[in-house]
Formats: sequence, structure tokens, C-alpha cells
Amino acid sequence: MSGDVWLGAGRLIHLQEVGTRDGLQAESAFVPTEAKIALVDALSEAGLSKIEVTAFVAPTAIPALRDAEQVLRGIRRNPAVVYSALVPNVRGAERAIESKVDELNLVMSASESHNLANLRMTREQSFAGLAKVATIARGAGVAINVSLSCSFGCPMEGDVPLNTVLDWCTRYLEALGAHGVTLCDTTGMAYPTQVLHVTRAFRSRWPSTELTMHFHNTRGMGLANVLAAIDAGADRFDASFGGIGGCPYAPGASGNVCTEDVAHALALMGYDTKVNLPLLIATANRLPELIGHDVPSQIIKAGQRLELHELPADFNEIRTRALSRGGPPDKVWGSPPPT
Ligand code: COA
Ligand code: ZN
Repeated sequence: MSGDVWLGAGRLIHLQEVGTRDGLQAESAFVPTEAKIALVDALSEAGLSKIEVTAFVAPTAIPALRDAEQVLRGIRRNPAVVYSALVPNVRGAERAIESKVDELNLVMSASESHNLANLRMTREQSFAGLAKVATIARGAGVAINVSLSCSFGCPMEGDVPLNTVLDWCTRYLEALGAHGVTLCDTTGMAYPTQVLHVTRAFRSRWPSTELTMHFHNTRGMGLANVLAAIDAGADRFDASFGGIGGCPYAPGASGNVCTEDVAHALALMGYDTKVNLPLLIATANRLPELIGHDVPSQIIKAGQRLELHELPADFNEIRTRALSRGGPPDKVWGSPPPT
């Protein structure tokens, strides 16, 4: 029922970490393989239910992730975590399966222009490729999820019709046998009312299919979109620690919603995300040194809500002076002023 969103009441929300893929792919600095492995291990320990570890793409296209095999082979597997990887084609799927990935995250765009810019194929060509990947994955017993980029709008084409999005979802779920779908707001064009509408439409067709919402905070609406989606029945969200990220083929794109910011807000609202916030914050705090710049995370800048600050050193003096000016008794300290 609409309105329940304000009362978390212990409801489980799955936070899926995409920072080591969506985040690091956009960085010009190459994060050393050992550091990537340590980040994934720390994120596993911090309680993220799924981690998109890397992408098996052409190393010439995304050099930052050219060590995909080594990273997947090097991580400590936590049985409670699903380790996923993005794959754009059959070659990527073969490499990912060889590296013992738990889930293949296939990707194409709801917009023809973005699909051509990002994947160099028409959408139909992409779909034909995904069908081949799905057959390989089925043979290997590996689950597939399909991420649909630009589900909430395309930076080159504008609005993407809801029916286009739902038609592609139908083909993934029915023709490809995908176990889940991710609706991606690749360039931060989604807004809460639209998210409510799209999520409701998806949920009314597929009430229990694994649905992930993937928001970028490009225009500051990330958390509002998460709440709108929860209100309409979504319970899985991609997010990136530190709020890093952005699509290299979308002008002006910026990071995903920040995992620690979302986990912090949802915990205050009474949701259960299973995330160990101090551990997650400590992990995100490693990023600036690794990528060479500050991260968008608000919690890293401001601390958690009840991380209180010390009183000023001359607080007693300030108070005594203020109270000596007279006026009604102070609600906190009473009157006369304490000494
Ligand atoms: N893994 C490793 N190498 C791959 C690969 C993969 N998954 N897919 C293609 N390649 C290699 C090919 O072997 C070829 O290498 P060569 O030039 O040495 O022979 C080269 O990449 C080009 O291959 P081609 O099949 O012609 O693909 P393309 O140039 O049309 O590129 C993509 C298509 C999609 C594979 C490539 O653009 C890509 O990986 N893009 C990354 C997209 C992405 O991750 N975007 C952000 C996330 S949404
Ligand atoms: Zn993204």
C-alpha cells in the first residue's frame, strides 16, 4: 500500500554493490589488482548481498577493468554473497564463467542511440548476442540478470516510452530465461513520480521477479528515487560505495547512489539492509587515495547523523555571557545559570 515507505518496520532491502564495476570503470587511475581484491573482500564483510565485482569487456574499451580474471580469482568467496560481473557479449561470458562468476549481468540499452554509442550494436543485434550468452550460461548453470540502460530516459533521445522498457523486460524474462532484470537510470534522468509509475507497472506484470533498481545521483534525485521505488514494491538497489561511477559513453554522467548514504538513511527509517555501516564507511574511506580524488559520499564528509561534535572549548563562557543578558529561563539550563 502506498505510504508504507516511511515505516521501514524491519523490512529487508537488498543493497547490491556496483562500485568496483560501475565506479572504477569511469576512473582514469588504474586501481591495482591487489587493492581491488581487498576492496571486494571488505565489501563482502560489510554485508552487501551482491557485488558486481568487475566487467569482462574489451580491455581496450575499459582499461580500468582489464584485470577482471585476476580479481575474480583472487577474492575470498563469502557464501552469503552473490558475485556478479557485467558481460557485453559471448567472449565476456566465456571469460566470466571460466573465472567462476555466480551471475552474469548482461547489458543493453532501452535506447537505440545509447546502445550504438555504448555497445556498438543495434538493440536487436545486442539481443541476438544476449540470447547466445543466455544459452552458454544455461549450459554452465550460471544465472543471468539483464541490465537495461536508459530505462528512465536517454541523454540523446530523451524520454523512453514505458512500453519499450516493459517489452524488452518481457523478452529477457520469457525468451532469455533471465532470473532478474535491472532497470538502470544510467544518466540520472529518473524522477520520483516516474519511478513510482515504472516500478508499479513492472510489479503489476511480474509481482515476484527479482527486480533491481539502478539509480545514478546525477541530478540529486537518487535517494528520492530509491524511496519512490520502495513505495512501489522494489526491494533491491544497486549502489556504489563512495558514490563513485558514471557511464563513459554518456555525457555529464556521474556516480551511482552512494551505498553508505542509502544504507544510513534506510537504517534511520527502520529498514534492515544487513549492511555493517562502520565497515562500509571504512572501506569507502580507502577510495580517495586509490583513485586520486575525493568521492561524492555525503556520509564520509559529514559523518553519521548522531556522530556528535565536541562543544566549543569556551562553551561555559559563552553560556554565562548569554544568560547574563537576562530574558526568560533557558529550557535546557534553567535559571539561574549553573556555575
Ligand atoms: N573481452 C575481451 N576482449 C573483447 C571482448 C570481451 N568481452 N569483446 C571484444 N573484445 C575484443 C575483441 O577480441 C577485439 O580485439 P582485437 O581488436 O584484438 O581483435 C576487440 O575487442 C574489438 O572487438 P569487436 O568484437 O570488434 O567489438 P567492438 O569493437 O564492436 O566492441 C564491445 C564491442 C561491446 C565488446 C566493446 O565496445 C566493449 O567491451 N565495451 C564496453 C562497454 C561497457 O562496459 N560500457 C560501460 C558499462 S554499460
Ligand atoms: Zn550505472
